[in-house]
Amino acid sequence: MDLSALRDLYARGEKIAVLTCYDAMFAGIMDAAGVDVLLVGDSLGNVLQGRRHTMAVSMDDMAYHTECVARGNASAWIVADMPFGSYQESPELAFRNAARLVQAGANMVKLEGGDWTLAAVRFLVDRGIPVCGHLGLTPQSVHALGGYRVQGRDAGAAQTLVRQGEELAAAGASMLVLELVPAAVGAEVTRRLQIPVIGIGAGPDCSGQVLVMHDMLGLTRTTLPRFVRNFLSGGGSIDEAIRKYVADVKSGAFPDTTHSY
Ligand code: KIV
Repeated sequence: MDLSALRDLYARGEKIAVLTCYDAMFAGIMDAAGVDVLLVGDSLGNVLQGRRHTMAVSMDDMAYHTECVARGNASAWIVADMPFGSYQESPELAFRNAARLVQAGANMVKLEGGDWTLAAVRFLVDRGIPVCGHLGLTPQSVHALGGYRVQGRDAGAAQTLVRQGEELAAAGASMLVLELVPAAVGAEVTRRLQIPVIGIGAGPDCSGQVLVMHDMLGLTRTTLPRFVRNFLSGGGSIDEAIRKYVADVKSGAFPDTTHSY
């Protein structure tokens, strides 16, 4: 998968199936199961490192796991998260760290937030690094947001998300992750943007969906948000569960209204 193939999927209205992935073996399994995009998420801080939030994940952690995923992958598009502290300070710092992730095997980097991220997004895109934005619930700002809460609930906040999405796209972002917003907001942001919007708890009308792999395989033992479905429940194999996830995202069977806000 390259960027033009990803754009083709989007242009023909095919839903894009994304999962988080942190190692070589799962990368091979997911790629073979038809997952379009592997996200080396800084959620690895939660699921692999046992942390309560993602802010302590380092560049070394991200580069290591990106390299592992890249070794196991044959054809999926790899997006790597820029960890907290790796892009906030300046576009130049963002470039140095993004370049490290690309050298580790990422095809695209993801950074969280609107407005203040635009200069860094432009700086990276102008220098040949594809960028994915991330709006809505942005876990690296969880302390400022006051917890893991649904974002964009009132009309003003929803309009801000639309504007920020449009600005990120204008700055050159070629994909957007939209997390934990009402389904109507997910639909509106997706309708207004000309780039794929990948939802996580953002309703069924986004251009694609992403879940954390440990959540969708039923491994997470803490209480899960409503938007998660366990694709392994009822038996079968991990390979089958991932194939079912891809099929359900592509057909629109996942998510349904029970997984939305
Ligand atoms: O880090 C991550 O896994 C993410 C997803 C939750 C979208 O950013």
